[in-house]
Amino acid sequence: MTDVRDRGQLKRVFIRTYGCQMNVYDSDRMADILRPLGYGLADTPEHADLVLLNTCHIREHASEKVYSELGRLRDAKRERRAAGRDLTIAVAGCVAQAEGEEIVRRQPAVDIVVGPQSYHRLPELLAEAERKSALGRAGKRLPGAGVLDTDFPPESKFDHLPTPGGVRSGSAFLSIQEGCDKFCTFCVVPYTRGAEYSRPVAAVLAEARALVAAGAIEITLLGQNVNAYHGEADDGSRWSLAALIGRLAEIDGVARIRYTTSHPRDMDEALVEAHRHIPQLMPYLHLPVQSGSDRILEAMNRRHGRDLFLRLVDRLRSVRPDLALSSDFIVGFPGESDVDFDDTMKLVEQVGFASAFSFKYSRRPGTPAAMLPDQVPEPVKAARLSALQSLLAEQALAFNASKVGSVVPVLFAEAGRKPGQLIGKTPWLQSVHAEGPVRLSGRITDVRLVEAHANSLAGEVVTAAYEAAA
Ligand code: 5AD
Ligand code: SF4
Repeated sequence: MTDVRDRGQLKRVFIRTYGCQMNVYDSDRMADILRPLGYGLADTPEHADLVLLNTCHIREHASEKVYSELGRLRDAKRERRAAGRDLTIAVAGCVAQAEGEEIVRRQPAVDIVVGPQSYHRLPELLAEAERKSALGRAGKRLPGAGVLDTDFPPESKFDHLPTPGGVRSGSAFLSIQEGCDKFCTFCVVPYTRGAEYSRPVAAVLAEARALVAAGAIEITLLGQNVNAYHGEADDGSRWSLAALIGRLAEIDGVARIRYTTSHPRDMDEALVEAHRHIPQLMPYLHLPVQSGSDRILEAMNRRHGRDLFLRLVDRLRSVRPDLALSSDFIVGFPGESDVDFDDTMKLVEQVGFASAFSFKYSRRPGTPAAMLPDQVPEPVKAARLSALQSLLAEQALAFNASKVGSVVPVLFAEAGRKPGQLIGKTPWLQSVHAEGPVRLSGRITDVRLVEAHANSLAGEVVTAAYEAAA
């Protein structure tokens, strides 16, 4: 492993990230906050002085994973203490927000619990945890009384975060919007992430320029409802996502722009048109529909029907015929009948998705759907999920196969598992494996696609570009 002590960093943090890309962004920012405190990154919990779990609360099993991990960390902490050293345990993210008190009660080894809107306060929280721990060692206080910060503070964390650190391999996330006011009846996000908030235009552009200076050529704009973006500009006007993308595309060095996750109701005409005329905007759109049944969409409080979605798809394909569509689906929402599920299958058949995520409905305490009577039995959910996933896998494979034989620009991001192998992304967000030198990482290179699988493609770096890079 890298010995961070050699770089003047005295301590190490191991960050484990669960859940969505917003959490990946937050984890990177927490690393940025901890760096000036002397923390380098550890590659395993065993090598760390501080272990930070950045958690996800969206489905039940996501939260349960956190408690199992905390059990293992408690044992590691005991062993450390027996050897005269310490291990600080911190829980961040949406489980921290939703179950802060419960975490401290269930697992007293936890030192810090910090919510997604208050992690800019980590330095103070660490200092407080250290004070408590010192008192505990002196026998003046029970050890393990964790420090809890799950406020929705009046200040925005974004105004208190340092400039982002290094960019890994050409691609960077930029969080521009957080929280949600949509209140879909199954979803915890409005409670864990709070009310909808859009970052000001100037702050977003400044961060984008910093990311480009740090090596990013692809920027993915993130938000729980990213296309509801309405950030304030210096002149007091509000900019839509389409306007923001237009300005980002003018920054020298930005070769690719993506955005996720969008709500069908917030796909305005300007954003649809942006897919026609902004070349850097990649031909890929993640647009969760959740269900193909009007009755279920209504019960989910999605505030649109299947027709709106289908019309939107037609409109998007008319401006960008090669657009790859992705979506999220929930099967087994309370009250979902065979007919409702069949409507979902028909919608999938009609649209044809390049990729998709599908889940069994998971009852989340505190959400309106958790109180609905007609919960669907587990075996029915399992059978529906399996049928839906077979269809989606077939479509993903067909989409990948349709690209075999063509030469496409691939942004190589990371080394693959086999030596000499690189993994990258096509404009349609397909994963591509190819042989090539590490120096191609972080660059866009022409690749001939030769073999399709459901989740990836094999490719060969095209000789001319390969030699030019040499
Ligand atoms: N059960 C199952 N899936 C859920 N999602 C959100 N909440 C739940 C839940 N309670 C899914 C939705 C959303 C994605 C991020 O997670 O499909 O779009
Ligand atoms: Fe959750 Fe619905 Fe908001 Fe998406 S739009 S974050 S599913 S409440």
